[in-house]
Amino acid sequence: MINNNPEIIIIDFGGQYVFNFKRFFFELGISSEIVPYNITSEEIMAKNIKGIILSGGPYSVYDPGTPKLDKKIYDLGIPILGICYGNQLIAEQLGGKVEKGQQGEYGFTYLEISNLKDPLFTNIKQKSICWMSHSDLISEIPPDFEIIAKTPQTEIAGIKSLSRPIYGLQWHIEVTHSEEGEKILNNFVFNIAKCKKKEWNVDSFIKKSSTEIKNIIKDGTAICAVSGGVDSSTVAMLSSKVLKYDQLYCVHINNGVMRKNESEQVIKWYKNLGLNIRYIDATNEFLKKLDGITGSDEKRKIIGKTFIDIFEREAKKVNAQFLIQATIMPDIIESTRGEANKIKGKKHGGIIKIHHNVGGLPEKMGLRLVEPIKNLFKYQVRILARKLGLPKEISERQPQPGPAGAVRILGPINTEKIKIWQESNHIVEKILKPLHPSQYFAILLPNKYINNLNINNEIKNIVSNFVEPESLIEPFIFSSQTIGVKGDERAYRYTLGLKMMKNGVNLWFTLNSIDILNLQGIITGRINQIVRIAALLSDNLDYNKPYVILIRSVETKDFMTATPTLLKKEILMKLKNELNKIPSIGAVFYDYTTKPSATIEYI
Ligand code: XMP
Repeated sequence: MINNNPEIIIIDFGGQYVFNFKRFFFELGISSEIVPYNITSEEIMAKNIKGIILSGGPYSVYDPGTPKLDKKIYDLGIPILGICYGNQLIAEQLGGKVEKGQQGEYGFTYLEISNLKDPLFTNIKQKSICWMSHSDLISEIPPDFEIIAKTPQTEIAGIKSLSRPIYGLQWHIEVTHSEEGEKILNNFVFNIAKCKKKEWNVDSFIKKSSTEIKNIIKDGTAICAVSGGVDSSTVAMLSSKVLKYDQLYCVHINNGVMRKNESEQVIKWYKNLGLNIRYIDATNEFLKKLDGITGSDEKRKIIGKTFIDIFEREAKKVNAQFLIQATIMPDIIESTRGEANKIKGKKHGGIIKIHHNVGGLPEKMGLRLVEPIKNLFKYQVRILARKLGLPKEISERQPQPGPAGAVRILGPINTEKIKIWQESNHIVEKILKPLHPSQYFAILLPNKYINNLNINNEIKNIVSNFVEPESLIEPFIFSSQTIGVKGDERAYRYTLGLKMMKNGVNLWFTLNSIDILNLQGIITGRINQIVRIAALLSDNLDYNKPYVILIRSVETKDFMTATPTLLKKEILMKLKNELNKIPSIGAVFYDYTTKPSATIEYI
């Protein structure tokens, strides 16, 4: 059942973030495999496995028919780390007790580690912020176990066997939200499972991959779509090292919704790099087709199709036989989701979004696909980009979605809105760039709100627990729906704009970060129609102006989960002041939502 020779196996109980483990191990050069929960101890014994992760899952261990681990696996002597459901499973299967908690613990909380000398906690802060998503909890630890961590609501947040290398943690170390999460995983693989770090060698990668490109393309002609982003630029640069100038055609298509002066800049960079670049200004073609289109899927489809049409035309012109594509590992990390999800008919656990930027193109055009960096992660692509001599603006560039501003301007697109969005986005980039968030941009929304959801009182009740009595709490529900993640699925829901004032002071500037994170978690958790929360930064909302700007800035490594960048008051004020100067902007908001429940992009 285990295919290759993984050092670590991730036993899948249907948790949402199973892939995050795989991504993490991959980055460390450690081979890992996601295996179904019904794997047997014999199957594990047949391989040289160094460590086992028991994933989270959407079940209660005490319910009949829920996925369980072959108990003999606990006796193999292989280090085990159980997370959330995996943690509860360890407790239940080894003689402890798991019960339904009085109230669930969803979102951010303070974690306190009891024994920092434990090798799992080397170089870990005693107190940090962690992310929880559970209602069940361990009420009694198994014999021969000790408690290693707690939170204000969960006395037994972590357990450890005193005689075997078995650990259980209630919080999710595999998501961006848990401050010390990656360090703990690091400690598990190196200090406990005794894996050896394998450094990725960029020089040997260049040598091997460029030889492969040459061997495949030989004297043929290749075409490569280049956006100016780090992935496509790197793949073009790498290929240009072994292909002649007129063997490699790089095509940059301006879809009219690029960032301010973006295409001009990109072309300049490529020319300086000596690449054979073709610039196609297809603004009119795109805008004509996008005219009057509001739906996000429709926008994506139109942009995708138009892009393919133009690209196909260009490929024909140069008689290309090969398409060099900048697919990277996160695009293909998807593998079969396991057995655990079948139990309750949960087919999609863990998969929030997958992007295939030019999927379907090679088949349609009869081109042979070449994907030289498909086994790399973004951070490796950046190392490669630097090594290949790409300018910093490219190697460190924040990722941009293929449909560009089209998904950041909500509602129909026109030249006026594009200009306002470009200007606003430029301001946001200028102010936030020095802080290096993972991704940051502006979204232009109509200054329109709805009032028929009957959720305002519930919102006010929740918010009142976070602010002093007599504070003004004013919810605005934006009329434009946006995408979020509810349960295992993507869902179109609403964004809540929130004004909170007392004695002329904007209370958003006074709340501490954990309260903000908790507030957004509680609102999106309890109110099904809401997927995002945005703080009103402006003093007032001017209804006479047609648009508002929402600022999105997130911290993430894998883009599967993300936390909002917690900006200082001075930065938020600066953003507000500069954006408020744009004549048609009625207010400025800062998006404080984690992914989940909101995705990074709005649509
Ligand atoms: P979400 O919105 O799913 O985004 O949280 C995760 C990451 O993917 C990028 N993204 C896209 N990239 N085409 C792309 O090439 C798209 O349609 C698209 N949608 C989202 C997003 O910017 C983020 O980095």
